[in-house]
Amino acid sequence: MSGHEEWFAPGGGMAAVKGFISPRSAQAISAILTHQMQTPIQGALAEIGTFLGKTFIGLALAAKPGEHVVGLDIFEADVGEKLVASLRRVLPGDRASHVRVAKRDSTTVTPAEWMRLLGSPARFVHIDGDHTYEAVLSDIQLATTFLADGAIVVLDDFMHEWYPDVSEGIIDALRVSKNLFPVAVIPRTGSVMGGGTKLVCTTPGAVDDCFRLLKAALPGTTFRDCRIAGKPAWAFFNYD
Ligand SMILES: C[S@@+](CC[C@H](N)C(=O)[O-])C[C@H]1O[C@@H](n2cnc3c(N)ncnc32)[C@H](O)[C@@H]1O
Repeated sequence: MSGHEEWFAPGGGMAAVKGFISPRSAQAISAILTHQMQTPIQGALAEIGTFLGKTFIGLALAAKPGEHVVGLDIFEADVGEKLVASLRRVLPGDRASHVRVAKRDSTTVTPAEWMRLLGSPARFVHIDGDHTYEAVLSDIQLATTFLADGAIVVLDDFMHEWYPDVSEGIIDALRVSKNLFPVAVIPRTGSVMGGGTKLVCTTPGAVDDCFRLLKAALPGTTFRDCRIAGKPAWAFFNYD
Protein backbone atom coordinates (compact mmCIF):
# COMPACT_ATOMS: atom_id res chain seq x y z
CA MET A 1 0.00 0.00 0.00
CA SER A 2 1.35 3.44 -0.79
CA GLY A 3 1.26 6.31 1.71
CA HIS A 4 -2.03 7.88 0.66
CA GLU A 5 -3.73 4.46 0.50
CA GLU A 6 -2.78 3.77 4.12
CA TRP A 7 -3.88 7.27 5.08
CA PHE A 8 -7.35 7.00 3.49
CA ALA A 9 -8.01 3.32 4.39
CA PRO A 10 -10.63 2.52 7.07
CA GLY A 11 -8.87 3.04 10.40
CA GLY A 12 -5.85 4.52 8.57
CA GLY A 13 -3.90 7.69 9.41
CA MET A 14 -6.82 10.00 8.71
CA ALA A 15 -8.79 8.43 11.58
CA ALA A 16 -6.58 10.32 14.06
CA VAL A 17 -7.36 13.75 12.54
CA LYS A 18 -10.59 15.65 13.16
CA GLY A 19 -12.31 16.67 9.94
CA PHE A 20 -14.87 15.84 7.32
CA ILE A 21 -14.53 13.06 4.76
CA SER A 22 -16.82 10.04 4.63
CA PRO A 23 -15.37 6.55 4.08
CA ARG A 24 -16.79 6.30 0.55
CA SER A 25 -15.29 9.65 -0.47
CA ALA A 26 -11.94 8.61 1.04
CA GLN A 27 -12.10 5.38 -0.98
CA ALA A 28 -12.88 7.27 -4.20
CA ILE A 29 -10.18 9.91 -3.66
CA SER A 30 -7.63 7.26 -2.75
CA ALA A 31 -8.43 5.32 -5.95
CA ILE A 32 -8.11 8.47 -8.06
CA LEU A 33 -4.71 9.26 -6.52
CA THR A 34 -3.52 5.68 -7.02
CA HIS A 35 -4.61 5.80 -10.66
CA GLN A 36 -2.77 9.10 -11.15
CA MET A 37 0.33 7.59 -9.56
CA GLN A 38 0.25 4.74 -12.09
CA THR A 39 -0.12 7.07 -15.11
CA PRO A 40 2.24 9.72 -16.49
CA ILE A 41 0.02 12.65 -15.40
CA GLN A 42 2.10 15.31 -13.58
CA GLY A 43 1.03 18.41 -11.75
CA ALA A 44 0.29 20.06 -8.45
CA LEU A 45 -2.22 18.84 -5.88
CA ALA A 46 -4.23 21.43 -3.97
CA GLU A 47 -6.95 21.81 -1.41
CA ILE A 48 -8.98 24.92 -0.63
CA GLY A 49 -10.15 24.53 2.98
CA THR A 50 -7.65 22.15 4.57
CA PHE A 51 -8.94 22.47 8.16
CA LEU A 52 -6.72 20.08 10.19
CA GLY A 53 -5.53 18.07 7.20
CA LYS A 54 -7.76 15.00 7.18
CA THR A 55 -7.82 15.12 3.38
CA PHE A 56 -4.81 17.37 2.78
CA ILE A 57 -2.23 15.08 4.39
CA GLY A 58 -3.45 12.26 2.13
CA LEU A 59 -2.81 14.51 -0.88
CA ALA A 60 0.68 15.34 0.44
CA LEU A 61 1.41 11.61 0.64
CA ALA A 62 0.40 11.13 -3.01
CA ALA A 63 2.78 13.70 -4.56
CA LYS A 64 5.28 12.58 -7.17
CA PRO A 65 8.83 13.96 -7.09
CA GLY A 66 8.90 17.66 -7.98
CA GLU A 67 5.17 18.25 -7.54
CA HIS A 68 3.85 20.92 -5.16
CA VAL A 69 1.02 20.25 -2.72
CA VAL A 70 -0.80 23.47 -1.82
CA GLY A 71 -3.28 24.04 0.99
CA LEU A 72 -5.22 27.26 1.53
CA ASP A 73 -7.28 28.05 4.60
CA ILE A 74 -8.17 31.07 6.71
CA PHE A 75 -7.00 28.97 9.70
CA GLU A 76 -9.11 30.17 12.58
CA ALA A 77 -7.68 29.85 16.13
CA ASP A 78 -4.80 27.32 16.22
CA VAL A 79 -5.89 25.21 13.23
CA GLY A 80 -2.84 26.19 11.14
CA GLU A 81 -0.36 25.27 13.88
CA LYS A 82 -2.08 21.92 14.43
CA LEU A 83 -2.03 21.16 10.70
CA VAL A 84 1.69 21.93 10.46
CA ALA A 85 2.37 19.71 13.50
CA SER A 86 0.45 16.81 11.91
CA LEU A 87 2.29 17.31 8.61
CA ARG A 88 5.63 17.18 10.47
CA ARG A 89 4.56 13.99 12.23
CA VAL A 90 3.45 12.22 9.04
CA LEU A 91 6.02 13.70 6.65
CA PRO A 92 9.17 14.14 8.70
CA GLY A 93 12.27 16.01 7.50
CA ASP A 94 12.59 17.06 3.89
CA ARG A 95 9.69 14.83 2.83
CA ALA A 96 7.46 17.87 3.52
CA SER A 97 9.51 20.32 1.45
CA HIS A 98 7.03 20.07 -1.43
CA VAL A 99 4.10 21.13 0.78
CA ARG A 100 2.97 24.77 0.85
CA VAL A 101 0.36 25.83 3.38
CA ALA A 102 -0.95 29.41 3.12
CA LYS A 103 -3.24 31.28 5.50
CA ARG A 104 -5.41 32.92 2.88
CA ASP A 105 -9.00 33.76 2.05
CA SER A 106 -9.17 31.83 -1.22
CA THR A 107 -11.58 34.34 -2.76
CA THR A 108 -8.80 36.95 -2.70
CA VAL A 109 -6.24 34.73 -4.45
CA THR A 110 -5.63 35.87 -8.03
CA PRO A 111 -5.05 33.38 -10.86
CA ALA A 112 -1.43 34.61 -11.06
CA GLU A 113 -0.87 33.86 -7.35
CA TRP A 114 -2.56 30.48 -7.70
CA MET A 115 -0.26 29.58 -10.59
CA ARG A 116 2.80 30.70 -8.60
CA LEU A 117 1.77 28.62 -5.59
CA LEU A 118 1.03 25.51 -7.65
CA GLY A 119 4.13 25.76 -9.83
CA SER A 120 2.58 23.54 -12.51
CA PRO A 121 -1.02 22.95 -13.68
CA ALA A 122 -2.97 21.00 -11.05
CA ARG A 123 -3.70 17.30 -11.51
CA PHE A 124 -5.88 17.12 -8.37
CA VAL A 125 -7.88 19.84 -6.56
CA HIS A 126 -10.27 19.44 -3.64
CA ILE A 127 -12.57 22.40 -3.00
CA ASP A 128 -13.91 22.52 0.56
CA GLY A 129 -13.49 26.10 1.78
CA ASP A 130 -16.07 28.83 2.39
CA HIS A 131 -19.55 27.37 1.79
CA THR A 132 -21.22 30.53 0.44
CA TYR A 133 -22.50 30.67 -3.16
CA GLU A 134 -20.03 33.42 -4.12
CA ALA A 135 -17.01 31.66 -2.63
CA VAL A 136 -17.82 28.29 -4.21
CA LEU A 137 -18.20 29.96 -7.61
CA SER A 138 -14.94 31.86 -7.11
CA ASP A 139 -12.99 28.80 -5.88
CA ILE A 140 -14.09 26.68 -8.84
CA GLN A 141 -13.24 29.48 -11.26
CA LEU A 142 -9.81 29.81 -9.64
CA ALA A 143 -9.18 26.07 -9.89
CA THR A 144 -10.10 26.01 -13.57
CA THR A 145 -7.45 28.62 -14.42
CA PHE A 146 -4.61 26.09 -14.04
CA LEU A 147 -5.55 22.47 -14.71
CA ALA A 148 -3.53 19.69 -16.32
CA ASP A 149 -5.23 17.64 -19.04
CA GLY A 150 -7.11 14.87 -17.23
CA ALA A 151 -7.01 16.69 -13.86
CA ILE A 152 -9.57 15.71 -11.26
CA VAL A 153 -11.43 18.35 -9.26
CA VAL A 154 -13.49 17.12 -6.31
CA LEU A 155 -16.21 19.47 -5.05
CA ASP A 156 -17.34 18.94 -1.47
CA ASP A 157 -20.88 19.11 -0.09
CA PHE A 158 -22.75 18.86 -3.39
CA MET A 159 -26.48 18.52 -2.59
CA HIS A 160 -25.83 19.11 1.12
CA GLU A 161 -29.13 19.68 2.95
CA TRP A 162 -27.66 22.54 5.01
CA TYR A 163 -25.73 24.20 2.15
CA PRO A 164 -27.96 24.49 -0.93
CA ASP A 165 -25.84 27.56 -1.74
CA VAL A 166 -22.87 25.25 -2.40
CA SER A 167 -24.86 23.22 -4.92
CA GLU A 168 -26.03 26.36 -6.69
CA GLY A 169 -22.46 27.68 -6.87
CA ILE A 170 -21.25 24.36 -8.28
CA ILE A 171 -24.01 24.20 -10.91
CA ASP A 172 -23.52 27.80 -12.01
CA ALA A 173 -19.74 27.38 -12.25
CA LEU A 174 -20.03 24.14 -14.24
CA ARG A 175 -22.64 25.56 -16.62
CA VAL A 176 -20.14 28.08 -17.99
CA SER A 177 -16.87 26.22 -17.57
CA LYS A 178 -15.18 25.13 -20.78
CA ASN A 179 -12.51 22.96 -19.13
CA LEU A 180 -14.26 21.34 -16.16
CA PHE A 181 -17.07 18.82 -16.66
CA PRO A 182 -19.04 16.87 -14.03
CA VAL A 183 -18.44 13.12 -13.84
CA ALA A 184 -20.24 11.57 -10.88
CA VAL A 185 -21.93 12.20 -7.56
CA ILE A 186 -20.30 10.22 -4.75
CA PRO A 187 -22.90 10.02 -1.98
CA ARG A 188 -21.70 10.32 1.58
CA THR A 189 -21.68 7.37 3.99
CA GLY A 190 -23.67 7.84 7.19
CA SER A 191 -24.23 11.12 9.01
CA VAL A 192 -23.57 14.40 7.27
CA MET A 193 -21.25 15.34 10.15
CA GLY A 194 -18.89 12.60 8.96
CA GLY A 195 -18.38 14.30 5.59
CA GLY A 196 -20.70 15.30 2.75
CA THR A 197 -21.53 14.09 -0.73
CA LYS A 198 -18.89 14.97 -3.33
CA LEU A 199 -19.09 15.76 -7.00
CA VAL A 200 -16.11 14.52 -9.00
CA CYS A 201 -15.26 16.56 -12.10
CA THR A 202 -12.56 16.41 -14.75
CA THR A 203 -11.41 18.02 -17.98
CA PRO A 204 -13.62 17.39 -21.06
CA GLY A 205 -11.66 14.57 -22.70
CA ALA A 206 -11.30 12.55 -19.50
CA VAL A 207 -14.93 12.15 -18.37
CA ASP A 208 -15.51 8.53 -19.49
CA ASP A 209 -12.16 7.29 -18.14
CA CYS A 210 -12.81 8.99 -14.81
CA PHE A 211 -16.26 7.38 -14.54
CA ARG A 212 -14.80 3.93 -15.28
CA LEU A 213 -12.23 4.50 -12.56
CA LEU A 214 -14.89 5.49 -10.01
CA LYS A 215 -17.10 2.54 -10.96
CA ALA A 216 -14.19 0.18 -10.30
CA ALA A 217 -13.34 1.99 -7.05
CA LEU A 218 -16.87 1.67 -5.66
CA PRO A 219 -17.87 -1.97 -6.13
CA GLY A 220 -21.32 -2.90 -4.89
CA THR A 221 -22.82 0.50 -5.65
CA THR A 222 -25.52 1.13 -8.21
CA PHE A 223 -25.32 4.02 -10.63
CA ARG A 224 -27.50 5.74 -13.17
CA ASP A 225 -27.02 8.22 -15.98
CA CYS A 226 -28.05 11.71 -15.01
CA ARG A 227 -27.61 15.32 -16.01
CA ILE A 228 -25.68 17.92 -14.04
CA ALA A 229 -25.36 21.56 -15.13
CA GLY A 230 -26.56 20.63 -18.62
CA LYS A 231 -23.97 17.88 -19.12
CA PRO A 232 -24.28 14.10 -19.03
CA ALA A 233 -22.98 12.60 -15.78
CA TRP A 234 -23.62 9.72 -13.39
CA ALA A 235 -24.97 9.34 -9.87
CA PHE A 236 -24.01 6.49 -7.56
CA PHE A 237 -26.78 5.22 -5.28
CA ASN A 238 -26.45 5.55 -1.55
CA TYR A 239 -27.57 2.32 0.21
CA ASP A 240 -26.32 3.53 3.58
C1 LIG B 1 -15.34 21.86 6.15
S1 LIG B 1 -13.80 22.52 6.57
C2 LIG B 1 -12.70 21.61 5.55
C3 LIG B 1 -12.55 20.18 5.93
C4 LIG B 1 -11.34 19.50 5.35
N1 LIG B 1 -11.27 19.61 3.92
C5 LIG B 1 -11.26 18.04 5.77
O1 LIG B 1 -10.96 17.18 4.92
O2 LIG B 1 -11.47 17.76 6.94
C6 LIG B 1 -13.83 24.07 5.77
C7 LIG B 1 -12.53 24.85 5.91
O3 LIG B 1 -12.61 25.97 5.03
C8 LIG B 1 -11.95 27.05 5.64
N2 LIG B 1 -12.40 28.29 5.00
C9 LIG B 1 -13.55 28.98 5.22
N3 LIG B 1 -13.59 30.08 4.46
C10 LIG B 1 -12.45 30.08 3.73
C11 LIG B 1 -11.91 30.96 2.75
N4 LIG B 1 -12.56 32.06 2.35
N5 LIG B 1 -10.70 30.66 2.22
C12 LIG B 1 -10.02 29.55 2.59
N6 LIG B 1 -10.49 28.68 3.51
C13 LIG B 1 -11.70 28.93 4.06
C14 LIG B 1 -12.33 26.93 7.11
O4 LIG B 1 -11.40 27.64 7.91
C15 LIG B 1 -12.30 25.42 7.32
O5 LIG B 1 -11.06 25.00 7.83
